[in-house]
Amino acid sequence: MKPIIAPSLLSADFGNLEKDIEMINQSEADWLHLDIMDGVFVPNISFGFPVLKHVARLSRKPLDVHLMIVNPEKFISEVKAIGADIMNVHYEACAHLHRVVQQIREAGMKPAVTINPATPVLMLKDILPEVYMVLVMGVNPGFGGQKFIEHTVEKVRELHELIRQTQSNALIEVDGGVNLDTGKRLVEAGADILVAGNAVFSASVPQEMIHALKSL
Ligand code: DX5
Ligand code: ZN
Repeated sequence: MKPIIAPSLLSADFGNLEKDIEMINQSEADWLHLDIMDGVFVPNISFGFPVLKHVARLSRKPLDVHLMIVNPEKFISEVKAIGADIMNVHYEACAHLHRVVQQIREAGMKPAVTINPATPVLMLKDILPEVYMVLVMGVNPGFGGQKFIEHTVEKVRELHELIRQTQSNALIEVDGGVNLDTGKRLVEAGADILVAGNAVFSASVPQEMIHALKSL
């Protein structure tokens, strides 16, 4: 089955977001991936809700919101209000992950849990039946354009097996360092969704890169 492709807006031209969002609208991309950073959970600050609202109005693709922030449960209603379909929270940022996942679902969004490179997939065993998707980071979160951590491929393979064992329906998304080479190996290992920032926006023809990723 073809992978779901979610370009990450983080690598877009913030001086002309409308142009890049329209490029994604017209491309074969399935979702639009949006990265929110707070300068606390990760050592960078991206954009907040005023920008997100504008982006959401322009996008015709489902919104996959990745919160790299502490206490993400405080913002469930704001994320819902912009029209997000999927809300990703970090395993490492939630003391009461089960409750947060239920709250996201009750708010009418699909809950997803993200793990950092140092978090083993086994930590997700008990939450797997409750989530729509697991996001496996291929880099330490905070910046676009970083080098892919090779061990991620093995983690995707392990997670795929754990999902099978627990009879969960969770999808596997990978974010960070995805390009045609890593993307191919991640799909072979069991990834359902590929997020790509730098690979798409630094390509000479971004829509062709989206097409190539979609064809993996
Ligand atoms: C990184 C973000 C990613 C980022 C990926 O912390 O979560 O979504 O945009 O960028 P690339 O694809 O350039 O590694
Ligand atoms: Zn992301």
